[in-house]
Amino acid sequence: MAAMLFVMVGGAVLPMLGSDIEGGSLSMGALEDGGPGGAVPAQMTVSVEEGIEGGAEMEVVEMKHSPEKKRRVRIYSQKFRKEWLHLKEFQGWLTEGITDDRAHCTVCDKELLAGKSELLKHSRGKKHRTRAAKSNPNPPPVQHGLSRVIDEDGMPHLLRIVDLRSDTVTQPSREMKKAMMEATLGDDVFSEDPTVKTLEDRVAQMLEKEAALFVPSGTMANLICVMTHCWGRGSEVIVGDQSHLYLWAQGGMAQIGSVHHRTIKNLPDGTFSLNEVRGLVRDEHDPQSPLTSLICVENPHHNAGGKAIPLNWMDELGALCSELGLPLHCDGARLINASVALGTSPARIVQACDSVSLCLNKGLGAPMGSLVIGTKEFIAKAKRLRKVLGGGLHQSGIVAAAGLWALDHVAPRLSWDHTHARALAQSVCEEHSSAVTVDLKDVHTNVVLLHCDNIRVNAKKLCQRLASVTDEESDELSEQIVVMALAISDTTVRLVTHCDIRKEDVRSATRKLKYVIHEYDNMMYLEYKISV
Ligand SMILES: *Cc1c(COP(=O)(O)O)cnc(C)c1O
Ligand SMILES: *[C@@H]1O[C@H](CO)[C@@H](O)[C@H](O)[C@H]1NC(C)=O
Repeated sequence: MAAMLFVMVGGAVLPMLGSDIEGGSLSMGALEDGGPGGAVPAQMTVSVEEGIEGGAEMEVVEMKHSPEKKRRVRIYSQKFRKEWLHLKEFQGWLTEGITDDRAHCTVCDKELLAGKSELLKHSRGKKHRTRAAKSNPNPPPVQHGLSRVIDEDGMPHLLRIVDLRSDTVTQPSREMKKAMMEATLGDDVFSEDPTVKTLEDRVAQMLEKEAALFVPSGTMANLICVMTHCWGRGSEVIVGDQSHLYLWAQGGMAQIGSVHHRTIKNLPDGTFSLNEVRGLVRDEHDPQSPLTSLICVENPHHNAGGKAIPLNWMDELGALCSELGLPLHCDGARLINASVALGTSPARIVQACDSVSLCLNKGLGAPMGSLVIGTKEFIAKAKRLRKVLGGGLHQSGIVAAAGLWALDHVAPRLSWDHTHARALAQSVCEEHSSAVTVDLKDVHTNVVLLHCDNIRVNAKKLCQRLASVTDEESDELSEQIVVMALAISDTTVRLVTHCDIRKEDVRSATRKLKYVIHEYDNMMYLEYKISV
């Protein structure tokens, strides 16, 4: 039983009680009172890291622990430094009252008497430090989730990093990797990869269109769609001035597709004026004009804060396109999010669209891959373009398998991400801050936009502050929390939730946000008013 509690001092592990314990129904005091085998609740939720001994993989799971069940568990407590003793008591409780007087330093492979001074003395000792330095010459890159860090004193800390920069930062889960390993493959350039075919059929069916084509990225999917619709020379496309296609695709339609674009002003909800569209369509009989060949819409609209476009507007736009005899393309990189937000099927949303692009690598969590969806005829042309653009992959089923897994397992959980985003936004609202604000009614999907007052704080500074941990903060929150966010303008910071964000990440991130915002609100500042 001695091995039950591995308090790795210095090299790696840090013990830490789940936050449910410190903040929730069971207080540290309760542990003290109860002690091993004492008045401990029959069941409680703890954050536990399991199965990492000797393995690189680690997973923090929330599990219900019943005292009657013995399990090998390792608990990380950020309270370690101050309240390390509780760890031992808690451990004792977990192992059904079996307490252990010893801790084990895995760096030095040494049993220690688990007295506080003993642990401290050991971790500060020269031998331990030399060994720790040797055993860990290149600390692993700190990434999303719980990381172990060692301070100058050789004391371990647990650092929670919550990466909210983008929903593209997700790591493929173990199960997703397993699905990839087991996928049946073939050469997709010969149309012989069964996994790719399954994915294409599945997505075509999901969107109630005739066919789909698997491509490496969303950028390529959109470019292929534009180029397929604009097969002739001299074409022009109407795109939103805040759209991904216009802003973030390097002008690929012009650079590679020889297609001219004409922008239309995006309204704050991601739509645009339909009347204005009429005015932008060129006179096809005027030889001086390019030929208006396509209208593009983005749904959900990312730059508008991930807003789902109202369904009736999509229908009106579709009707207008039919009237004008123009095809409609939807950049639906996160279409499934829109469907979650609107409570409608993805097929219904794109009913009036002639082509759609859909990303598997965003909130769905696949490492790569997107789809082009349209008629059989459209997809046949798109397939030619995919090849010339370098997107004809051979055993691409290995990544298509990740996409299929994501559609089965991640898509149904998308609403969690939306709930998480709302929780983050809510916590900012609760601060009633004048320095950092959020508009709750703008949070439709998994994107939260924070607005900075630009006096006490601007977007860049807020991101830097969220990414750092002060001593006072560490003491007050008894947790080191780093929130990674992206400044998307001078005054706007974007937070995006995704499938790797768990409940405990949200809990920590909201604590951090509140703490930092409070700090800015308490900041004194002088405002100079210059009257002329
Ligand atoms: C991410 C994104 C794309 C491009 O997808 P990549 O796979 O990153 O090339 C296109 N449109 C929108 C709206 C996106 O968010
Ligand atoms: C879309 O849904 C996925 C899955 O829940 C989520 O991870 C992602 O953050 C969402 N993205 C947007 C922009 O809504």
